[in-house]
Amino acid sequence: MILVTGGTGLVGSHLLYHLSLKNDKIRAIYRTKSSIEKVKKVFSYYTSDASFFDKIEWFKADITKVPVMILAFKGIQHVYHCAAFISFNPNDYIEMRKVNIHGTAIVVNLAIDAKIEKLCFVSSIAAVGEAKNEHEMITEECEWNKELDNSGYSITKFGAEMEVWRASQEGIDVVIVNPGVILGSGFWKSGSGKLFSQVYHGFKYYTKGITGFVAVQDVVKPMIKLMNSDIKNERFILVAENKSFKEIFFAIADAFGKKRPSIQIKPWQTGVFWRFAWLMSKITGKAPLLSKYSARSAHAVSKYSSKKLQNELNYSFEKIENSIRKICKEYTKI
Ligand SMILES: NC(=O)c1ccc[n+]([C@@H]2O[C@H](COP(=O)([O-])OP(=O)(O)OC[C@H]3O[C@@H](n4cnc5c(N)ncnc54)[C@H](OP(=O)(O)O)[C@@H]3O)[C@@H](O)[C@H]2O)c1
Repeated sequence: MILVTGGTGLVGSHLLYHLSLKNDKIRAIYRTKSSIEKVKKVFSYYTSDASFFDKIEWFKADITKVPVMILAFKGIQHVYHCAAFISFNPNDYIEMRKVNIHGTAIVVNLAIDAKIEKLCFVSSIAAVGEAKNEHEMITEECEWNKELDNSGYSITKFGAEMEVWRASQEGIDVVIVNPGVILGSGFWKSGSGKLFSQVYHGFKYYTKGITGFVAVQDVVKPMIKLMNSDIKNERFILVAENKSFKEIFFAIADAFGKKRPSIQIKPWQTGVFWRFAWLMSKITGKAPLLSKYSARSAHAVSKYSSKKLQNELNYSFEKIENSIRKICKEYTKI
């Protein structure tokens, strides 16, 4: 039987659909019933046949709670660990450590106890190091540098990877994927889904920072292929293309037939804004509208190579513009 953590998130829900095509025994963890409805919606983008969704056995659990997680692991051979807390709000750091590092340690300990066959962990490009300069491509070999001013998210994803490598030392076969910014349908109010909603509603601003982007299908399909292969104890960057935020925003606006964002935000402007947002958050106690790390990544130029995955699985990624067009079509169905 397969266990999926984070089954109610962007990656987890699309993964569940692709797993349901070939597998009958899938257990997925959820925390609230309402989030299961979001998964149903994601399945509806692919099929009107409810039998795929009905294959999932839903199991209520919090990955940070050992007793219930022991029960979740009963009869499990393959684990896809997608659950995580994603935030760039410095106030969320302690909670992020709890879910991302401690939660992964629990998954790893139970995987070892249950002697599962294989574990796939969804990490991030945030846990990969930097290239020597803007022209060099970042690969799996670039080591994450703990001496740098890393975001709390980056620290916790790296810490989680350390736990997963511990599983490999204890004899569990593991594969780690490090996706770039994941674009996909169904979660329009969070993560990259917000980019689509904002551009649809006439967002005017863009930056020229460059990073790696990948469609959610190009995350979950390689995950399944890696799990069903002999490949083990390796990590793989999943990036279809390196694009600027300007190019992505323009492509989304074009696909919606909306006006392209027209105001370029300069680094000094985000620099002023995140400091102001930080001050306001201290006064109001609310989450800052922009964090130092989000501001920094809006302008950073980081280019990632997925050659390792393409070579080992002979896998081709969908062009980002095509993925954006499909996602925009699905957005207009809501
Ligand atoms: N989105 C991206 O652009 C991106 C890029 C690179 C890597 N990643 C990685 O990909 C993975 C999946 O991300 P995503 O975009 O799918 O995130 P998401 O949409 O925010 O989903 C997160 C999932 O984790 C679950 N979760 C959080 N805390 C939990 C806990 N304590 N116990 C049980 N479940 C918990 C959530 O459950 P609820 O529904 O109950 O909240 C949800 O199912 C994460 O590991 C993330 O770091 C994401």
